[in-house]
Order: sequence, then structure tokens, then C-alpha cells
Amino acid sequence: MERRNLEDKTIMGVRTSHRITGLTGTYAAPGDKSISHRALMLGGLAVGATRITGLLEGEDVLATARAMRALGAEVARGADGAWTVHGTGVGGLRPPTDILDLANAGTGVRLLMGVVATHPFTTVFTGDASLRKRPMERVMAPLRQMGARFAAAEGGRLPLTVEGAVMAMPIRYAVPVPSAQVKSAVMLAGLNAPGQTIVVEKLATRDHTENMMRHFGATVSVERTDGGDVIVLDGQPELRGRPMAVPGDPSSAAFPLVAALITEGSEITITGISVNPLRAGLFETLVEMGASLEIANRRVEGGEPVADITVRSSALRGVDVPAGRAPSMIDEYPILAIAAAFAEGRTTMRGLGELRVKESDRIAAMARGLAANGIAVEELEDGLIVDGRPGDVPGGGTVETHMDHRIAMSFLVLGCASRRPVTVDEDEMIATSFPGFAGLMASAGARLEAA
Ligand code: S3P
Repeated sequence: MERRNLEDKTIMGVRTSHRITGLTGTYAAPGDKSISHRALMLGGLAVGATRITGLLEGEDVLATARAMRALGAEVARGADGAWTVHGTGVGGLRPPTDILDLANAGTGVRLLMGVVATHPFTTVFTGDASLRKRPMERVMAPLRQMGARFAAAEGGRLPLTVEGAVMAMPIRYAVPVPSAQVKSAVMLAGLNAPGQTIVVEKLATRDHTENMMRHFGATVSVERTDGGDVIVLDGQPELRGRPMAVPGDPSSAAFPLVAALITEGSEITITGISVNPLRAGLFETLVEMGASLEIANRRVEGGEPVADITVRSSALRGVDVPAGRAPSMIDEYPILAIAAAFAEGRTTMRGLGELRVKESDRIAAMARGLAANGIAVEELEDGLIVDGRPGDVPGGGTVETHMDHRIAMSFLVLGCASRRPVTVDEDEMIATSFPGFAGLMASAGARLEAA
């Protein structure tokens, strides 16, 4: 497959969002990115067939699909849109014959580093310019203790080589920063280690790896203690291929939902959204801000709680977002900052140090983008303070997205309701997580025009 060079600015799409009223309609949420990556990986480590419906066909997940193929799993898309993975069994992956390029996918590369860390062969990973800036030491540190060896570029970054452990060791690891990616990398490595691999996390992060490992037949227990959650995985299970229904992604649904909240005369329903409590912090916060947000038709799909969410345009007020809520909405702060720009009063967000090492430094990117659009914002080391201007957000700015899909989507949403249009310097990266974003927004009534 030909890869476009996403680092070549000349092919990137500048896009402008114009003010509109009345965003309406009912739309299905795109598949959850976190769950899609994990389904391909665990399907690839299971014996037998895993049929995945609702897989997110975003660039990040497609990069993981290619990597799993290169590691020996059979991964194919059927004519009906369902994907089938025939796995090799735990420990059965084969050495890749080329470098694995995970493009923009931080979750893809970090979780795969865990997968290969306990396979006795060498893997080389790289990624695009954004991914090559992101810290990988957080994953290498525990995986070294399990017996893997690494050679990384300066600062513990990509490209890097993993020499997988020949005799893998199970470990007990207290994750120093709240990170589902680090937790998951250790657990995925633990699948091919004897004995019990134990991860301790002070603040609970998304639990999709734990849930899905159980779904495939592993034994994973969680004990809640005063020191945090103690997650215990019994090593070397026989994983069995299972059907997987991927629920809708709350982190993607957030964009059209907030667009409808801030745009006059709107009512939008997004169906099939995962409402896993460890992902639902944004919805809780929006309700506190006065959002008209209804969660209906709660059900369980693919082992995850899902629901349909309807929002109507609402008068929002600023809030103090508790720092402890950060793990349950870590990817939603950019779009929350947009909601805050339309809220009466001040919104304070703290405990967000991790946002500085996402696809971009999201604290800096949001602060600059809001300021360029006439919003008073204070950038803190680990947070943001936004003073809202309900009904009177100037807009008119051009925003540098730094190859970050969520920064691009956030400011295109801002432009739906600001007085003057808002331009983002590129929108190509949106396809990493939400390829249907522009189409959904256009159907709902947004005017996002290529410049
Ligand atoms: C993810 C975990 C989060 C999140 C990322 C997806 C995952 O990262 O920001 O988009 O699928 O495990 P951290 O765990 O590093 O905070």
C-alpha cells in the first residue's frame, strides 16, 4: 500500500470552519480506537479466528493491523466490513522481516513494544515526525525488567530496536504516571511470561486490556487497595479467538456532541458510544457545566457498557475540573477547552501534565489556538484556565495543529459557533482517529471548507 508522506506540508489540507446554526441528526459513533488496537493484538495472540465488527478503520488502527500481519497473524477485512484475525497463540509470533512503521499511533507502538518484549526476536519500530518526538522510556523501563533489551534514539525515542526476552520474567510494577498504555504494555508482555504479572496503578485508567484479556480467556483479577488498584494477570494463558464487537469511541463522539452544545438551535444524537466509567469524565463535566445531555438506551456490547447520547444547545457555565478526573477524560481536554470558551465564567483544568506528551503538546497548542481566536487563556505547567465568552467568541484565527488530530477537530468545532471563521493549518491527521469526521459534520449542517 502506498503511504502518503504526512510530513510534507504541501499535501496537507488547510480547512476553515464557518459559523452555522442548527446542527441536527442521529449518527453512529466510529469504533473505539483503544479497543480496536487491542482487538487486533489479542486476536493475533489467540488461537483460532477472531471476527471483529465495528473496527475503527482509522490510520492508527490500520498501522497496527499491518504490524500484526508482519508479526505473523493473518488479518483480513471481509466484504461486509468485518475484520477477521487468525492468531498464532501466545508466544507464537514470528520475527518481522522489515521495520514496523506505526505512523502516528502512540497506542499502537507502545502496546506492540509490550507484545514483542517477551518474544525472543528483534523488532525495529519507527513512526511519523509526531510519534518520533514522544517518550518511550516509560514503556521500556518495565519491559527491561522483564528481560527485553532496547536501543533507542536520543531521549528514549523512536526509531528503536527491541530484543525480546528469551527467558521472560514476570514483574510487579507500580506505574509511575497514570497511563493505560504503560499498564497495557506490561500486561501484554506478561502474557508470555511465566507466573503472575502484577501492575499497580494509583489512579485507575481505562481498563480495556483487562476486560478484553478476560474475554479471550485469560485470568485477570483486580484488587482495590488503599495504594491503588492491583491488577494480576496469570501468565501464559491459552487465548482463544472470540467475536469482538467494538463499541463507539467516546473520544470521537465528543466532537460533534460539543459542536451541538455550543451551536444555537442544535440537537444531535450519537449512538452506540462506550460509556465505560473510565472513559466518561467529559460527559460528567459537561453535565456539571449545565449541558443538556441525555444518556439513553444503555446496554452492553462486546463486554463494554454502551449508550446513545443526545445533546441540545445549552447555556454552559465554567467549572473547576477535579485533577483526579484526568485519566477518565485525558483525550477530551482539547474539546472541553472549546466548550469552556463558550461558557459563562472561568473553567480551570489541572493535573494535565500528560497532555504535554500526546500527539502534540496539547496544553500549549490549545492555549495558542484559543488566544489566536480571541479567548483569554492562561497556560499552567499542568493545566489551562479559560475565561469563556458565551455567544461572543471572536474566532478569525489560524491554528497550528502540530500534526494533532484532536487539536484540528477541536478548532473546527470552535468555528461552528464563533463570530468569524476558524482555520486549521492541516486536517489530514483527523483520519488517524476519525476518518468520517468531515462527512458527519457536513451531514449535521457544519460548513468545513477546504481552503
Ligand atoms: C490510550 C491511553 C491514553 C490515551 C490514548 C489511548 C490507550 O494514553 O491518551 O489516546 O488506548 O491505552 P496514556 O495511557 O499514555 O495516558
